[in-house]
Amino acid sequence: MSVYLKHFGLNEPPFSKEIEDTDLWLPPSKKALVDELVEAVEEHASVCLTGDPGVGKTSVLRALRSRLPQAGFRLTYSHNATLGRRDFYRQICLALGLTAPANAGCVFRALTSYVEDLGREHIHPVFLLDEAHLLQQVMLEHLHVLLNYEWDRKALLSVILVGLPELQDRLELRRNRSLYSRLYYRLNIDPHTPQDTADYLQYRLRRAGVQTEIFTSDAVAMLHEAALGSLRDVDRVATAALKVASRRRRKLVERDTIESMLSAVHED
Ligand SMILES: Nc1ncnc2c1ncn2[C@@H]1O[C@H](COP(=O)(O)OP(=O)(O)OP(=O)(O)O)[C@@H](O)[C@H]1O
Ligand SMILES: [Mg+2]
Repeated sequence: MSVYLKHFGLNEPPFSKEIEDTDLWLPPSKKALVDELVEAVEEHASVCLTGDPGVGKTSVLRALRSRLPQAGFRLTYSHNATLGRRDFYRQICLALGLTAPANAGCVFRALTSYVEDLGREHIHPVFLLDEAHLLQQVMLEHLHVLLNYEWDRKALLSVILVGLPELQDRLELRRNRSLYSRLYYRLNIDPHTPQDTADYLQYRLRRAGVQTEIFTSDAVAMLHEAALGSLRDVDRVATAALKVASRRRRKLVERDTIESMLSAVHED
């Protein structure tokens, strides 16, 4: 076990990304978002979800995965957004357990006929497309065909496009309006407040077995400013701060520890 974990009486690295889907931090704002996503897929609607880097978009998808009943939904997750059309559909086929034909048209037909089969079995496919701001333009154009394909009357699948705020800008372009108009739910993860950052730190430290405060309120305020709303940066800076404080044999992470670390980074 690492020295800093022992020093603070932590059972595990508190800010690791390896957190179980069911253990994710879901304050009311994030819970409301997951509720909306569940509602959207239950209505067989499609969604666009945007937010700044590290704000917790992918984690919200993981929370959705753990909320949806296994029976009735078939989720596929893809973060390989830069692929061309054929490889893009191939990876979705593979994720669904289908043997993907080599030819682009055949891949699309195999996928759509499988989606229709699922519809007959009352299983609703949900394609989670992460990093969607990176999708090639040809894919954005084709996605509307996928949502449209023979079934404009009846939604046989939901697409959840997730990405940075520029995804929204791209969707608003005239050439993507027909796809955008099919995304009934347009959700955004707002930047975290200082209180959110404090709650997040406390939540994750409690999960790792520490009930008492380790970060002083000044240190939390500074960490919040430095992370610019990114929980990934909170994780990184908070872990580094715990290590520094442990080396200095301190039981509290105070403002000066965060400060000295940030100024060390800036001097590099
Ligand atoms: N709800 C949450 N519960 C616990 N940890 C979280 C949560 N949301 C985010 N995190 C932490 O923050 C890190 C970054 O979150 P996540 O990967 O979800 O952000 P993102 O918005 O998808 O980022 P990017 O724009 O870079 O893809 C996670 O690895 C995790 O450690
Ligand atoms: Mg992500």
